[in-house]
Amino acid sequence: MLLSLMLFAAIPVTILEESKVPAYTLPDPLVASDGRKVDAEGWKSRRRGEVMRALETHVYGRTPDTSARQAEAVQEVREHDAAALGGKATRTQLRVWPVGRKGPFIDLLVYLPNGKGGQSPVFLGANFGGNHTAVDDPKVFLPETWVSKQWSDPARSDRASEKQRGSQSSRWQLEMLIARGYGLATFYYGDVEPDHPEGWKEGFRAALSPAGRDTVWKDGEWAGVGAWAWGLSRSLDVLSRMPAVDASRVAVIGHSRLGKASLWAGAQDGRFALVISNESGCGGAALSKRIFGETVGVISGFYKGRGFPHWFTARFATYSENEAAMPLDQHWLLATVAPRPLYVASAAEDLWADPRGEFLGAVHADPVFRLLGASGLGTEVFPEVGRAVGGSVGYHNRAGKHDVTAEDWANYLDFADRNMKAR
Ligand code: GCU
Repeated sequence: MLLSLMLFAAIPVTILEESKVPAYTLPDPLVASDGRKVDAEGWKSRRRGEVMRALETHVYGRTPDTSARQAEAVQEVREHDAAALGGKATRTQLRVWPVGRKGPFIDLLVYLPNGKGGQSPVFLGANFGGNHTAVDDPKVFLPETWVSKQWSDPARSDRASEKQRGSQSSRWQLEMLIARGYGLATFYYGDVEPDHPEGWKEGFRAALSPAGRDTVWKDGEWAGVGAWAWGLSRSLDVLSRMPAVDASRVAVIGHSRLGKASLWAGAQDGRFALVISNESGCGGAALSKRIFGETVGVISGFYKGRGFPHWFTARFATYSENEAAMPLDQHWLLATVAPRPLYVASAAEDLWADPRGEFLGAVHADPVFRLLGASGLGTEVFPEVGRAVGGSVGYHNRAGKHDVTAEDWANYLDFADRNMKAR
């Protein structure tokens, strides 16, 4: 009792009011390690690489280069139906072993619109509950792996069941995407790595490490967010092999922890033509130095019994209650997407993810977009709830709670129509 009281007392009160945000200084992403501000050429040739190394070192860890293993990738079409959704779409369900059959597999579910002619642009994102939850379609296979009832708690996980079918479909809005000429590709994030501290042993991090399940992770090595981001890239490999997909128009999207993964995937993989963060919060689009809502300490497991230490590389937790010492902030992550289009979205009641901090992440990344000739965000004024703003960097703060809704998707599709043009 006493101990838990002491631990509880050690956790600082969460800041949820703007007036309580402390003064902070943001490092300029355009100032290189030699102290000089770079021009567009300097960003491309040198500074962007430094920023990527900093993100690896202090936040996500380094993703191993698996390009030499591409030839080992195996995929099987498990099911294909050219008359899905009452004839409006073609559904393909693939099982993919990105590093050969000895490794884990990813079940990728793909819908492409029918009757549009030519190749389709696609939104790709990982889902939280299994492919059968993301859409309301009786033909979608149930995952054979565990699915979580309570994220991050394997004890409260279960086999997938029919009862869950379609339960997250409002987050994916498949019919809307298809009607507007876009495809959807999704996979269960637990296929890549189950989301708990020991989950990596079942996923690709163990499969790709020479020591396998005996790996002792060192500071600077990748973690859960990095693994999910890697899974997004391997899924893009698969989409690129599908003749009906326009691989030059694949948008990567993610919500919350998977929004962190979407941004990190977009940063590392220049093939993603558009990058979307839906309420990614701390360790995603939100500035850590504001200490608003979820903090580095809370998310990284600095306080016993809380947080998600398996998401980030070890160094990240050392900035707990010491955000001022961070040589970077999350606007650096957003800047790495430039000059490609980027959309950052918040929800007004989702204070845990710090809507204004997410907006400011985009504001402070904007100079990099404009330097590279993109129209960027083009405003520093936090927009009223429900209004979408921006040019090639989009932002909105939707009314309501932490979720992905039809309103979010309508904005993403409008933005993609404007910014993800056929090349
Ligand atoms: C928790 C966590 C967030 C995360 C969210 C989610 O709230 O603190 O960082 O984004 O879960 O993934 O739903």
